[in-house]
Amino acid sequence: MEGIRLQAEVNEDSIKRSASSPYGYARVVGSVAERIVGRIRASGPMTFADYMEAALFDPEDGYYTRHASLGFDGDYFTSADLGPAFGRALARAVADLWALADRPVPWDLVEAGAGRGIVMRDLLAALERERPDAARSARPAIVEVSSRLRVQQSLALEGRDLRWASVAHTLAPIQGVVFANEVLDAFPVHVLVRAADGVREVYVGERDGALVEVLRPASADLRLRSPDALPVGGRWEVSPAAEGWVASLAPALVSGYLVLIDYGGDETDLLSREGGGTVRGFARHRLVPDPLAEPGRLDLTATVNFTAIRRAAEGAGFRFAGSATQREVLLALGIREGTPRPATPIEQLRAATRRSAIDLLLDPSGLGAFRVVCFAKDAPAEGLRMFSGAVAARV
Ligand SMILES: C[S@@+](CC[C@H](N)C(=O)[O-])C[C@H]1O[C@@H](n2cnc3c(N)ncnc32)[C@H](O)[C@@H]1O
Repeated sequence: MEGIRLQAEVNEDSIKRSASSPYGYARVVGSVAERIVGRIRASGPMTFADYMEAALFDPEDGYYTRHASLGFDGDYFTSADLGPAFGRALARAVADLWALADRPVPWDLVEAGAGRGIVMRDLLAALERERPDAARSARPAIVEVSSRLRVQQSLALEGRDLRWASVAHTLAPIQGVVFANEVLDAFPVHVLVRAADGVREVYVGERDGALVEVLRPASADLRLRSPDALPVGGRWEVSPAAEGWVASLAPALVSGYLVLIDYGGDETDLLSREGGGTVRGFARHRLVPDPLAEPGRLDLTATVNFTAIRRAAEGAGFRFAGSATQREVLLALGIREGTPRPATPIEQLRAATRRSAIDLLLDPSGLGAFRVVCFAKDAPAEGLRMFSGAVAARV
């Protein structure tokens, strides 16, 4: 995650310089890397999206399948790792949405891509404390593709009656709230480059066992998706996988809300901020700029194009219900309110730690700049408290 995945030097001992990667580095290690090289040798270069899919989700050796390590001791941390305030604010958001949807009983509370299970753990605890009326009839569930992370989630949520699924439609019909924090950025992207004479797509090829970028003419479909304002040399990412995933939630969610939180922006933002492309890797809190380095060992991620996500959601039958920064949303949900008044020095110290965690969640140049976007299905799309402080509802 962008704000907090700390940037640091790449360890040059562990990688080998590659001639044609614009990022400068590539190394082939481990079995997913061998499989990727084998595929390229058998069938020619693969799209960057296919490469990212294999590196993250190879059934035996992908990052999320086998190596994902989240939290302060892992590769990166998310809002959830900063203490219970994030889950508590989300509990208020989902309780509001439940009330707005006419308090269905029972109702589904589904987290997609739950990482270590901390968000769901904190959210349920806060819901029980602050909104027992909503908590009583909630049916929690997690949609998770990584069996490695499912194990961690079941430990975090031990003792709770919870369902797991690898795709949302097996939980259908869902009536309630589906939410996902930092999941869209993990979906594979096609990478386009504007050359002087047209739009090219980045493929991944191989030279002497090292992965290298290869540019090929982009398909008509993808060419149409690159904005005219993209300058020559500029890069643009398109994620039919993320868009398709959002669209696939629509038939499963018969009524209620979909809440998506991630780093990203609308197309105009992305063009001005991210013209050089946004794909990057993270390992041990270090930014690894070359996504071709160490496939399977890095968390690969790309900034989310919420304009495309909105288009896909609305095309699938969702109604746009609002968008704001994480900072605006958490403040509207009273993230600074409801913490006990410290009486003793040790409590004062704990309160100070909680306050600085909240400051990080609200940091306008870090986590606070993330976008929170909500879609409604057969439920009111107006009057959501979480967007009451939004300055501009772009996206
Ligand atoms: C960056 S982690 C975020 C974890 C958690 N939401 C948090 O805030 O800490 C991404 C999560 O999404 C999961 N994931 C990735 N693709 C998915 C998909 N298609 N369906 C469900 N989960 C997915 C990963 O396994 C992982 O649990």
